[in-house]
Amino acid sequence: MRTIIFRDKQAVGEAAAILFAAQVLKKANSVLGFATGSTPLETYAALSGLSQRGIVDFSEVRTYNLDEYVGLSPAHEQSYAYFMRRNLFSKINISPENCHLPDGMARDLDAECASYERGIDMDGGIDLQLLGIGHNGHIGFNEPGDAFPDATHCMTLTPETVDANKRFFTSADEVPRRALSMGVGTIMRARAIVLLIHGADKADICQKALNGPITPRVPASILRYHPNVTVLLDQAAAAKL
Ligand code: F6R
Repeated sequence: MRTIIFRDKQAVGEAAAILFAAQVLKKANSVLGFATGSTPLETYAALSGLSQRGIVDFSEVRTYNLDEYVGLSPAHEQSYAYFMRRNLFSKINISPENCHLPDGMARDLDAECASYERGIDMDGGIDLQLLGIGHNGHIGFNEPGDAFPDATHCMTLTPETVDANKRFFTSADEVPRRALSMGVGTIMRARAIVLLIHGADKADICQKALNGPITPRVPASILRYHPNVTVLLDQAAAAKL
């Protein structure tokens, strides 16, 4: 695991964009794994700029997002599909049919999870996966528990995560209680991973994930077993390392 500390979140985001740009320059038809949340916003802005300036060509890239809420259609402003369109896909030269998120409106959620996992395999697996981390150590929606979930699955959000996400909805009641998420296994099968951590509020979990015991109680801790993980963090998040 390589760990690089930057001055601030802007630098973290730009460094991550450089790694993703390099991946696409090396392999035009890369399969990229993307995340939502506030952490990757600077990365997506920087990638949008690189695409608009003609430096990175996304026309052959395929993407798979980590997760999506159950019950929100892609048109819902709080769906992750909407987030990705607004913050990245509408600003780069990528075809919508190459952008994949689990379908939270699927009638048969288990079948949708299996088909999402199959789609990743059929596209050759994820070359580079972007990750943020939750305050409780979750990656994707893999919450702390007794085991690491393997494949894409449907799960119930913890009260902590509902609480953290309620800022995006008019009330906590509106936050979906379930989500579809890549499993920890799906994430670990990516050939390379970039984990971004910024902000003083992430300093405790950053310390636990990078230096504490490797345990499903801190799902991100398993990333230390992956052969190719780069952690980009700012000084505030690194304060307790
Ligand atoms: C988002 C995701 C989550 C977030 C995490 C951090 O697709 O899978 O694991 O990365 O909740 O969220 P932010 O970046 O908002 O602090």
